[in-house]
Amino acid sequence: MSLDVNAVFSEYLNTHLPRINSFHPHFNEALAWILNAGGKHFRAQLILGTMLAFSKKNKINKSALKCALGVEFFHTYSLIHDDLPAMDNAAFRRGVQTLHLKYDQTTAILVGDGLNTQAFYELSKIKKAKLSYKLIKILAYNGGLNGMVIGQAIDCYFENKKLDLVKLKFLHLHKTACLIAGCMQMGAVLAKQNKKTQKSVYNLGLKLGLAFQIHDDIIDASASQSIAKKPVKNDKDKNSFTNLLGLQGAKNARDELKEQILNEASTQIKPLLNDLMQKYLKDSDV
Ligand code: IPE
Ligand code: IPE
Ligand code: MG
Ligand code: MG
Ligand code: MG
Repeated sequence: MSLDVNAVFSEYLNTHLPRINSFHPHFNEALAWILNAGGKHFRAQLILGTMLAFSKKNKINKSALKCALGVEFFHTYSLIHDDLPAMDNAAFRRGVQTLHLKYDQTTAILVGDGLNTQAFYELSKIKKAKLSYKLIKILAYNGGLNGMVIGQAIDCYFENKKLDLVKLKFLHLHKTACLIAGCMQMGAVLAKQNKKTQKSVYNLGLKLGLAFQIHDDIIDASASQSIAKKPVKNDKDKNSFTNLLGLQGAKNARDELKEQILNEASTQIKPLLNDLMQKYLKDSDV
């Protein structure tokens, strides 16, 4: 029987929430607030699923769980900061109040900072030093300046300034796709795959990440808040795919990428990608 990767990860997350001993009245509660609120665990599932796809054993080891946990901390930090008034100014995330409203902006900024650094601490605790180093490097590269950070900077700076399609792709590849591609590469590294395989799954991951962000933009344009579990119609001033291509154009672009991914995926990785895209990139979400 195949493993329920999300159930294994959720159990690990619930038992490994970050905590700090101090006399602060609510910092631990705030640290866990958005992590406990759920989320799809798409990136964690992608790491674990990619590792399993390339492994002989149907087993998830401690190194892989630490890696997936670190990446979920990192991704959650990026969402907490994304919701701040200085960025997207959002009141809900994963169906609950955003941290800056539940507590205050100071708490939200510091919880984000804490989850960002704790992510790398989790990766550093992986016992095999060379593996740990490789995973840290992939997360730092794709989540930091060369990936998510410059993507978010462009996303916010160019609000109300229309970008062309080439720049729009640059924005979304960096903001979202680099981290998702990095997750697939981390899965391949955990399964001891060579550079060539790492590169090919990374390239597939870039397409998957772009399709994921287009779908997210479609959700903003057409889903209800109760389905999205976050504010909708919040991208009016953004260079979103729906604003540039129209709703149907964005759906076509997403579906074309989905088709390319399935055509290009190797037999090992295709079932995982097919499964995740059917679950999380489907039109009935919206
Ligand atoms: C939201 O990510 C931000 C994007 C990059 C589109 P997710 O859609 O994975 O959010 P959660 O983790 O499920 O809440
Ligand atoms: C944010 O993109 C991507 C991140 C890197 C956090 P969005 O701003 O579209 O994400 P949502 O829609 O708020 O989840
Ligand atoms: Mg944003
Ligand atoms: Mg946002
Ligand atoms: Mg969005």
